[in-house]
Amino acid sequence: MKLTILGGGGFRVPLVYGALLGDRAEGRVTHVVLHDLDPQRLSAVTRVLAEQAAHVPDAPEVSATTDLDEALRGADFVFSAIRVGGLEGRAEDERVALAEGVLGQETVGAGGIAYGLRTVPVAVDIARRVARLAPDAWVINFTNPAGLVTEAMSRHLGDRVIGICDSPVGLGRRIARVLGANPGEAWIDYVGLNHLGWVRGLRVAGRDELPRLLADPDLLGSFEEGKLFGVDWLQSLGAIPNEYLHYYYFNRETVRSYQQAEKTRGAFLADQQARFYEEMKRPDAAALTTWDRTRAEREATYMSENRETAGAGERDADDLSGGYEKVALALMRAIARDERTTLILNVRNQGTLSVLDADAVIEVPCLVDANGAHPVAVAPLPDHATGLVCSVKAVEREVLAAAESGSRTTAVKAFALHPLVDSVNVARRLVEGYTDVHPGLAYLE
Ligand code: G6P
Ligand code: MN
Repeated sequence: MKLTILGGGGFRVPLVYGALLGDRAEGRVTHVVLHDLDPQRLSAVTRVLAEQAAHVPDAPEVSATTDLDEALRGADFVFSAIRVGGLEGRAEDERVALAEGVLGQETVGAGGIAYGLRTVPVAVDIARRVARLAPDAWVINFTNPAGLVTEAMSRHLGDRVIGICDSPVGLGRRIARVLGANPGEAWIDYVGLNHLGWVRGLRVAGRDELPRLLADPDLLGSFEEGKLFGVDWLQSLGAIPNEYLHYYYFNRETVRSYQQAEKTRGAFLADQQARFYEEMKRPDAAALTTWDRTRAEREATYMSENRETAGAGERDADDLSGGYEKVALALMRAIARDERTTLILNVRNQGTLSVLDADAVIEVPCLVDANGAHPVAVAPLPDHATGLVCSVKAVEREVLAAAESGSRTTAVKAFALHPLVDSVNVARRLVEGYTDVHPGLAYLE
């Protein structure tokens, strides 16, 4: 079983490899191919993986290449975890938007649109190559903005590309815990787009336990989303939003605090990771120890740097590391061994939300087996949520159209239609600002 990781020199790759090392079952991954454009990053990560594997019998073999086609040939699974423009690009996405007084964030609002415009053409090229060189492979996409990028790839790969995110499962786990339920036994009624979804129910043995949480201010105030959104607002909504909805419901406060922050999240991570790859240039560097130390620093700053919330520091290590590698592994196992399971994934709508067309990628619980991920039927969203989902999906469609045509006018339209961009003039200046700093946007004419 061959797994190819695109973005194989990325800082989070050891998390994925760590998850693979823990998988002892029949049919597990036996060969990992790391692909990256940067040979130094590849070599740094390869050394970390070698140390991780040192005392593990039958550890998956690791090879590395900068040749994309070579990496894809013969792959059973392809993980796409690339970052077009690197963390420096992420920092520019944040800076340009914040300078205009609108949200600059990795995946949401203007920052997410800029990142999407850079990433979609690269993701489409990858999808085309997979279709040609590894037509039977399953592509697991964690490249952000994950919903949009998955949709771009699905136009070439159909349902063979599945997008993943750790935030819905993390949210479900926190709600289950606060209710005293076993997260493994809870059915989470969650739906929306990636980083734009709501938990409307949590059923244990067929009984919805969420009303008990919503009715209890103490319980509600005791966990991260309760602190982030406030008890009153959660009770008004009658649902628990994904933490990324904070950028919509408390946009003004977030923009202000991000503008005042000494460094944006992207700039912070760019510096930190540059130090890691720099240290790894020393041939005698203790790879795993260096990686572990950097990761611990990153996690310690996760909430304070990333999301302004009274819940800072409340997440446990499992939540902090995201657990996205666990989602990826669970998905791969279910497909490879036909081990039926339910996961919240980014897949084509196929009628699940009647307000969106069949090809729109949404985030929804899916039954997964050897035939892939099948969205389950869910209740419709309330109107306020439908409104947001439809307008953000319309923006995503403009991003896809701009990436396909190279039209600057369409790119302006994408920014201008976003609910968090408050003027067409701002949208025009954002396109100017982003094309000035991002070589990856040179295609816009
Ligand atoms: C969560 C999201 C990911 C996102 C990450 C950012 O895990 O689900 O989509 O990339 O946060 O974390 P970072 O440490 O890079 O700010
Ligand atoms: Mn995510």
